[in-house]
Amino acid sequence: MGAGKSTAARELGGIDADDLIESTAGKPVAEIFREEGEAVFRALEEQTIVAALGGGAVTSPAVRDALGDTLTIWLDVDVDTCWARVRGSDRPLAQDEAAFRRLYDERRALYAEVADVVARDAHDVVLAAAGVRVERGALQRLGELVPGDGPVALVSDPNVAGIHGMDAQLALGSRLAETHELPPGEDAKTLTTVDRLWQDLRLDRSGTVVALGGGCTTDAAGLAAATYLRGIEWTPVPTSLVAQVDAAIGGKTALDLPQGKNLVGAFHWPARTVIDPALLETLPEQQRLEGMAEVVKTGLLAGEPLWELPQDELVRRCAAFKAASCLRDPHERGERAMLNLGHTFAHALEAAAGYEGLTHGRAVALGLLAALRLSGRDTSVVEDLLRPQPVRVDRERAWEAMHRDKKARGGELRLVLLGDDGPRWDVAVPEADVRRELDRLIA
Ligand SMILES: NC(=O)c1ccc[n+]([C@@H]2O[C@H](COP(=O)([O-])OP(=O)(O)OC[C@H]3O[C@@H](n4cnc5c(N)ncnc54)[C@H](O)[C@@H]3O)[C@@H](O)[C@H]2O)c1
Ligand SMILES: [Zn+2]
Repeated sequence: MGAGKSTAARELGGIDADDLIESTAGKPVAEIFREEGEAVFRALEEQTIVAALGGGAVTSPAVRDALGDTLTIWLDVDVDTCWARVRGSDRPLAQDEAAFRRLYDERRALYAEVADVVARDAHDVVLAAAGVRVERGALQRLGELVPGDGPVALVSDPNVAGIHGMDAQLALGSRLAETHELPPGEDAKTLTTVDRLWQDLRLDRSGTVVALGGGCTTDAAGLAAATYLRGIEWTPVPTSLVAQVDAAIGGKTALDLPQGKNLVGAFHWPARTVIDPALLETLPEQQRLEGMAEVVKTGLLAGEPLWELPQDELVRRCAAFKAASCLRDPHERGERAMLNLGHTFAHALEAAAGYEGLTHGRAVALGLLAALRLSGRDTSVVEDLLRPQPVRVDRERAWEAMHRDKKARGGELRLVLLGDDGPRWDVAVPEADVRRELDRLIA
């Protein structure tokens, strides 16, 4: 009680047991307790399939049994914090502090028994639900962290393999069946590369593809896993900032076509994503900057200066933010689209540059600038942290790319903007305004 379960459940787009029981019973929990007693409340709870279990649910052996194979997350918050949150409320079991503390102590052993994962806050809960593990030193424990006990094909690029490949191989131990290398960068995301990987893979259906590398490696190896033998399990182990806060989360995999980036792919949710922030220590500064553009984007969407956090916490919070929007909207039919903040402009500039000489991070920095200006927001964070510089590309080419990307309707384009109460996607913006902001990004 008071740990923040309802908040975490809402983050996941899930439901809270108490809400569900209240709507089933047609009256508030406090009233059920008063009028029918705790036993009736527990019986109602037992019958309810829930996202957030009431704190007392695990006292029922039937609930503990039912949890069996279900991923069960213990939101472990200290007793003082819980009490501070519930004191003075009408919750029946939170009327007397001594009794509350006794109950807290009694139940801990039961929670420990049923929990698959222990979480400290709502962000940890989201990460656990998404199968994302963020943990310094995780690479050294890869053998246990890759789900299942079948063989593993380790896929990497030569840069990353040269630095972290041996550690990964040692950690995988006897599960390591084969190793593969893809070219570094976007060259990995071609049909030729994936065709070679398909033909080289020897795994059967019990096997797992482990993708160790940046977003290009995880995108290409993820697509190979999504399609090889009609789909086998995969575990990305992202090594770049872009991949740790963005690319390796949410199950999108993709290849590029000459017509544009990421045009062929699949949604294939990883069995687990293993994020070891220590791996970022070998990342070149230029690549770190690429990642910061996505970090700033995430912070703007979350409405919190996530970019100010120390590195490991920054990675955890950005990963959790992306995981939450993907869990709530896995196939991008709605809110997941907000992750494209600034990206319509960015993609147009990248296309106009012919995908050369302008990195995605620099393009996103410019795109964020335009999105903030159109939202009537302060742009200083983007300017101070990302220092976007106007690019030399053909204006008409950029405008055409933008138009094609967004299929303008009735003289308006649909963009993600920041409103007073958070991000809004699919906002209709007059073409003239969009064109004006696009032009400001071009030297
Ligand atoms: N699937 C998604 O949802 C999604 C989201 C965002 C981006 N992406 C994709 O991600 C790709 C960009 O990812 P990226 O920037 O990680 O590119 P990348 O994979 O090319 O990595 C960048 C460079 O850094 C090197 N590198 C990576 N980790 C390192 C480390 N720890 N130490 C030293 N060097 C290291 C790589 O070898 C490479 O040369 C793009 O293709 C983009 O489309 C996908
Ligand atoms: Zn991006």
